[in-house]
Amino acid sequence: MIVREPVNVPGYRLDQTRTPYFQVLLDYVDSGVIPFHTPGHKQGVGMDRAFRDFVGDNVLAIDLTQIRGLDDLLQPEGPLVEAQELAAECFGAEQTFFLINGSTSGNQCMMMAALNPGDRILLPRNSHKSAMGGLIMSGAFPVWMQPEVDEALHMDHTVTPEIVRAALEAHADIACVYVVSPTYYGVAADLAGIAGVAHEYGIPLLVDEAWGPHFHFHPALPQSAMQAGADMCINSTHKMLGSLSQTAMLHVQGERIKLDRLKAVYKLFLSTSPNLVLVASLDVARRQMALEGPALLSRTIEIANDTRRRLNTIPGIYCFGDELEGRPGVFDLDPTKVTITVKELGYTGYEAEEILRRRYNVQCELADLFNTLALFTIGTTVDAADELVYGVREMAREDRPVDIFSPSGVLDRRMKTGTYQLPKIPPIRLLPREAFLAPTEFVPFKKSAGRICAEVITPYPPGIPVISPGEEITPEIIAYLDLEKKAGVKMQGPYDSDLKTIRVVS
Ligand SMILES: Cc1ncc(COP(=O)(O)O)c(C=O)c1O
Repeated sequence: MIVREPVNVPGYRLDQTRTPYFQVLLDYVDSGVIPFHTPGHKQGVGMDRAFRDFVGDNVLAIDLTQIRGLDDLLQPEGPLVEAQELAAECFGAEQTFFLINGSTSGNQCMMMAALNPGDRILLPRNSHKSAMGGLIMSGAFPVWMQPEVDEALHMDHTVTPEIVRAALEAHADIACVYVVSPTYYGVAADLAGIAGVAHEYGIPLLVDEAWGPHFHFHPALPQSAMQAGADMCINSTHKMLGSLSQTAMLHVQGERIKLDRLKAVYKLFLSTSPNLVLVASLDVARRQMALEGPALLSRTIEIANDTRRRLNTIPGIYCFGDELEGRPGVFDLDPTKVTITVKELGYTGYEAEEILRRRYNVQCELADLFNTLALFTIGTTVDAADELVYGVREMAREDRPVDIFSPSGVLDRRMKTGTYQLPKIPPIRLLPREAFLAPTEFVPFKKSAGRICAEVITPYPPGIPVISPGEEITPEIIAYLDLEKKAGVKMQGPYDSDLKTIRVVS
């Protein structure tokens, strides 16, 4: 092994050029050890030939298990201690935990670490469905906050410090505040303001920052949750940075989170056989950000802003930008998310997404009723951006099918004018955990008003539940889900994915 002098990257105390975990995997391969250990494919030898030929030998050679020298993610003592310390410094946290089941496991870990059964947690209605997993597991009681709604774009933005304060004043005994920032669409909350309010009440702020792992590395991006003073947050590094799918990080700082409890929960939730290729990809993605993050992101932001500007010249297309800043719930914006609003073209976002894929070979990240969203990251090229602009321009020129807002169209005309009322948060009749685990039965969905829902029903994407276990099914919710179904939205969560029936508490 070559031992070299530590290198100081400006702005960092630790040697951020190192990738200690990736290195031990390379050293293991170099050592030529004869593997009598898992995984069963034994560094590719036993792997299906077609798959092996496609992915290549190298990735299979480092698909190892945590044997001697390769440390233990659940109880790190060697290179994984260093790799996570480097990540903590790089992302501005006191301590960082690598996750190998996405921010989904991060949400579960955060809630299980901060909450006991029956504790009340303040959280926004546009929380990702994995937050519901955290509620079901912890047995906590949700006190929902309605984020600011943008009727014209048909989307929820964020909660404001005022909304958080009002909720804390209205409800005693809140154990912690949980917020989502940025939203899937890149709208960021005033996290410093919200942290201030939560801390005034002596409780921690947890942030689902799944979509903001890049924030820390560029001044043109919103302030990161750690910089804003949050106590704990999660980052889906795989979504916006260069690590592999399923990887994420959980960051923590300060005294409000009990570290011993967090570590115990982490050990409970993570696999004892983590995929080490995934773990190493976190190590290298961190180094990439420390060394090249600002430069790579400058380029990404420039391409995204230029694309937004070009898209906005196409008749019938709108991509929101700086003009939204300062509106309720829009504290700051992530320019790398380009939301393409297509309702003026007479398409749903789902239709636009499908047209772009089928006719112009461009695949967007998500679609909803009015929008489809193009994600720009350090991997997006100028050529790719050109293809997107071309596809959208051609789509806008095409002859429309039936306008979605026409009498025979799928959407209610009131939605176009922003006068359609989204369903109100339904009354909570049982704890999510109680309803999820209760004896249940199936009833016809259209006749389920008044019953207690026992499953999470989430139009996907964007993955935000409309109704969750323990909530009363209201006529408004039935009408709204029916409308989404007619518009072609896929429902995640229900046992009957066609939603002809729904599982309710018996
Ligand atoms: C806001 C938010 N939180 C959490 C998650 C879950 O993240 P992951 O896919 O990394 O498990 C998502 C996924 O889209 C999300 O949008």
